[in-house]
Amino acid sequence: MYYGGDYNPEQFPPHVWEEDVVRMQEAGVTLVSLGIFAWSRIQPAEGKFDFEWLDRVIGLLHDGGIAVDLATATASPPPWAVQQYPDILPQDENGARYWPGSRQHYAPTSPSYRRLAAELVHAIAERYVNHPAVVMWHVNNEYACHLRHDYSDNAAAAFRQWLRAKYGDVGTLNEAWGNAFWSSLVTDFEQVHPPRKAPYSVNPAGLLDFKRFSSDALLELYTMERDILLSHGATQPITTNFMGAFAAADYWKWAPEIDIISDDSYPDPNDPEAFRTAAFTRDLMRSLGGQQPWILMEQAAGAVNWRPTNAPKAPGQMAALSMQAVGRGADGVMFFQWRQSRRGAEKFHSAMLPHAGTGTRTWREVAQLGADLKALGDVGGADGRARVALVFDWENWWAVEGSDHPVELDYGALVTRWYAALHRRHVMVDIVHPEGDLGGYSLVIAAQQYLVTDAAAANLRGFVERGGHLLVTAFSDVVDESDAFRDGGFTVALRDLLGAQVKEFGALVPPEFDASAPGERFAPFDGPFGSGTGTLLAEELDVVDAEVLAHFTEGRRSGDPALTRKRTGAGRAYYLATVPDEVTTGGLTAWLLAEAGVEPLVAGASEFVEVARRGDVLTVINHSAERTEVALAGTDVLTGDAVETLELDAYEWRMVRPR
Ligand code: GAL
Repeated sequence: MYYGGDYNPEQFPPHVWEEDVVRMQEAGVTLVSLGIFAWSRIQPAEGKFDFEWLDRVIGLLHDGGIAVDLATATASPPPWAVQQYPDILPQDENGARYWPGSRQHYAPTSPSYRRLAAELVHAIAERYVNHPAVVMWHVNNEYACHLRHDYSDNAAAAFRQWLRAKYGDVGTLNEAWGNAFWSSLVTDFEQVHPPRKAPYSVNPAGLLDFKRFSSDALLELYTMERDILLSHGATQPITTNFMGAFAAADYWKWAPEIDIISDDSYPDPNDPEAFRTAAFTRDLMRSLGGQQPWILMEQAAGAVNWRPTNAPKAPGQMAALSMQAVGRGADGVMFFQWRQSRRGAEKFHSAMLPHAGTGTRTWREVAQLGADLKALGDVGGADGRARVALVFDWENWWAVEGSDHPVELDYGALVTRWYAALHRRHVMVDIVHPEGDLGGYSLVIAAQQYLVTDAAAANLRGFVERGGHLLVTAFSDVVDESDAFRDGGFTVALRDLLGAQVKEFGALVPPEFDASAPGERFAPFDGPFGSGTGTLLAEELDVVDAEVLAHFTEGRRSGDPALTRKRTGAGRAYYLATVPDEVTTGGLTAWLLAEAGVEPLVAGASEFVEVARRGDVLTVINHSAERTEVALAGTDVLTGDAVETLELDAYEWRMVRPR
């Protein structure tokens, strides 16, 4: 179990480094991520490297028994590099340049950036690849965190190259993008541009490809650095830190290139439900890594500095959120950052060692967690043994949130609404790609899966044939991978499986609109789970050969089908023709779990109690300020004591091997 944080010693004089190591030992630190933003310190000029200070820091850490996750330091190009090679700087969709003075001011496709980054990684790898302290490589940092897309001339050239590789000739591109529309037929790839500021909506298929390209361009940077490390004989695991469900990088595509998945996570202490979204991201990381252990690479010990208001974590909350990660498969709990910065933009961001020193609650909680993780020892493999899977797909995310649709949908919020309903019911969930392996699941939910490939449709069909329960919800199976309708309208790829076809979307007024806005806002419906409320869409369904389980009861769809079920092979496929509100999502979830025969991990616990399974261990966490009880017989993993009922104070956690 790794414990530690980002370590930025270049901000402090050498005598502080010595104190750092002593304090790290006191806090139970075992690993630090070193040098993430140290490029300008390591390389003061082109061709000139200063490793003397870094040698010393790594030596001190090693002597103190602290391992190093060594950064490639490429996340923030130094001022001299930008001065000499201004093409490093990225541009926004108006062609305006992003200037240096902050961080991440590089265009991923800039040849100068790539060359200089490669030289730096070669130099670092050459020097440290065999250093016994270095146990992991930390490539760059949070790719695309601040700059999701670059529209520079470098990007334009690389995008054209990417399109040439994908489509081969302009005829195929014109067909895929539907360029006959709005006089857009191109006769040369040079006529294609990134989706820069245009008078009106840009071509959605082009936009979708640009998002794919932008994710790929960053992934290319990652694999470039990784391959340099490997070329120097690196045997340590190589990682780069993800940011949960982050829109700009298709982590399904990235994950196979990464040895150990790592994630940065900053749930808002002001939001009493933030722990649920955090749980979703933990399950996403475990799922991206194929049920292998992952690392919580960054979190805050207390407050962050970048929200409009930055609450500190409540007493115990930092440990609760850390153990949530461990309970959901993490083999490391790390922080941004070790010692709080005295200067710069993040001087108000909390750290393991705060400005006020060791006489603080933050320090006591950090040291306590370090001791607990040490005492916990090996908690076994990361497999959550989930029987329920939620489909989550970046390509669909990019496509479903396109402009000019019947309603605006927030894909992340809609998927996590289903996740939250399952989480409240103490059910373990995996996150899956629509073309991913669905073997072993009893229930799969695909919410707003607007973009469906033929392969995904076949995969979902196979799941149902083998006995699975599949729920597909409104605005799914609308387009193919080029964002084009298939021949035959909507719900073509899944029509046989669902036994139903959508004829019309029936947009409703979004509930959050001004209350005086005219028009229908809700679509009530009745079914086997009780009555429910639909929002955003009330679709007109043509039921071909499915049972109708629920009908809309009011409004323009009154009497029409709202929920259908069709049996295929040993399983069932359900279609819900609306977007259920939160309460209805809960009712439907409970009913579906019963249909699919999925039991909760514990019975009768409060919805603010989280229960997660990792192999044969259950982690139980009270995320509320109220004391609560959970009936669970077994052995406490930390103390070895037998337990029957857990009494949990505010933010208290336990790990139990059930009897
Ligand atoms: C992350 C970043 C860290 C630090 C942290 C603050 O996005 O990787 O360097 O800035 O946020 O919360």
